[in-house]
Amino acid sequence: MKIAIIGQGYVGLTISIFAGEYFEVVGFDNNQGIVDQLNSGISHIEGVDSSVLQKWVKGGRYKATTSGSDISDADVVIIAVPTPLTKDRLPDLTFIDDACRTIGENVKKPLLVINESTSFPGTLRNYIKPTIEKYSVPLIEHLYAISPERVDPGRRDYNQKNTPRLYAGLNSEASEKTRDFYSKFCNELVEVSSPEVAEAAKLFENTFRQVNIALVNEFAQITNALGISVYETLNAANTKPYGIMKFTPGAGVGGHCIPVDPTYLAAVAEENGAPATFIRRANDVNLEMSKFVVDRVQADNGASLQGKNVLVVGVAYKPNVADVRETAAELVIEHLRNRGAVVSWHDDVVGSWHGESSAPLSGADIAIVVTKHDSVDEKAIVASAPYVFDATGKIMGVKGL
Ligand SMILES: NC(=O)c1ccc[n+]([C@@H]2O[C@H](COP(=O)([O-])OP(=O)(O)OC[C@H]3O[C@@H](n4cnc5c(N)ncnc54)[C@H](O)[C@@H]3O)[C@@H](O)[C@H]2O)c1
Repeated sequence: MKIAIIGQGYVGLTISIFAGEYFEVVGFDNNQGIVDQLNSGISHIEGVDSSVLQKWVKGGRYKATTSGSDISDADVVIIAVPTPLTKDRLPDLTFIDDACRTIGENVKKPLLVINESTSFPGTLRNYIKPTIEKYSVPLIEHLYAISPERVDPGRRDYNQKNTPRLYAGLNSEASEKTRDFYSKFCNELVEVSSPEVAEAAKLFENTFRQVNIALVNEFAQITNALGISVYETLNAANTKPYGIMKFTPGAGVGGHCIPVDPTYLAAVAEENGAPATFIRRANDVNLEMSKFVVDRVQADNGASLQGKNVLVVGVAYKPNVADVRETAAELVIEHLRNRGAVVSWHDDVVGSWHGESSAPLSGADIAIVVTKHDSVDEKAIVASAPYVFDATGKIMGVKGL
């Protein structure tokens, strides 16, 4: 069997590597730079091992391409392209549209189309299928299924093999073939009754995290007002063996999932006349955390940040990855600059960002830790400035949430 995977980012490349063990894989991406890099056996994704990629490339099991004709004889095509928000913070399906066009215009025989991109319920049935059909001349009747991706980049304990996978086809044949495909490299497959259930479940998973993170973020503001430690209080609450789950506060939420996916759910809820008040409020609380952090730092530093050299430590959205999408560091830096601070940032995992490079971890008036990578020495952070504010709860003996 030949598998074509549209989009070779965090999701698409990860799947390519697991599928490569059992199938011939074509990784289609419209970024020529990424395609060239992958064909030379270099992975651009944390957690995707270049040595395995090299093995698949050398053995002819994997090829990256920008050419639509390379997917024309595939048996299964997987969509793994971004699903961001528009400027007005509404679901943006333009990448899905492009992927559907690639499939419609190039695939000349019936195959199984599986969507792994995150989107609102109804996307497979009401958007992907009709869009592929629109571009497919003459019309070819494909099978359609959804299997939302749950990969957590940088995580070692859960991977494609041991993370249960949801799936549903538009008909029973699509469901069956989807099961056959994933069962090669996934231990537990969970079929649900419709694609809409799978799509909504994926959005709920990330909304669950978003709302609970917002709750501990708000709680950090409450404990600060009460003059008690948020971490000690949460640790105390977490000793209850049931009915509670650990979440930790921070300067905000980042990445492609938590700040974005709940808005897909809110948009579809409101379109259908249902309230999404929790989701909207959680989003606001998480976005406001950056201001709370900067307010705290300003209050501790003579009520003014004008002209102060402030070093933001860690600009990736989470530890040990180079991903800066929707990072809370962006808003922290914006608030600092609006208040006249001279801001630089240190993050050697990210390296360069917005045309700026990672600055040395030293010599600042103020350091604010937004993300703590394992590779960054705690003592060096403490020594980097006379005043250090830690928004991660990982640095001992300094100010923090
Ligand atoms: N990153 C995660 O942790 C994660 C986890 C679960 C689900 N998801 C979802 O998976 C989807 C993909 O996310 P990602 O993190 O892999 O994105 P990504 O930005 O890492 O990768 C997307 C890739 O698709 C390519 N691309 C864009 N449009 C294309 C097109 N029309 N044709 C071919 N290639 C195209 C880009 O060049 C890029 O390499 C999104 O819907 C996301 O919400 C992501």
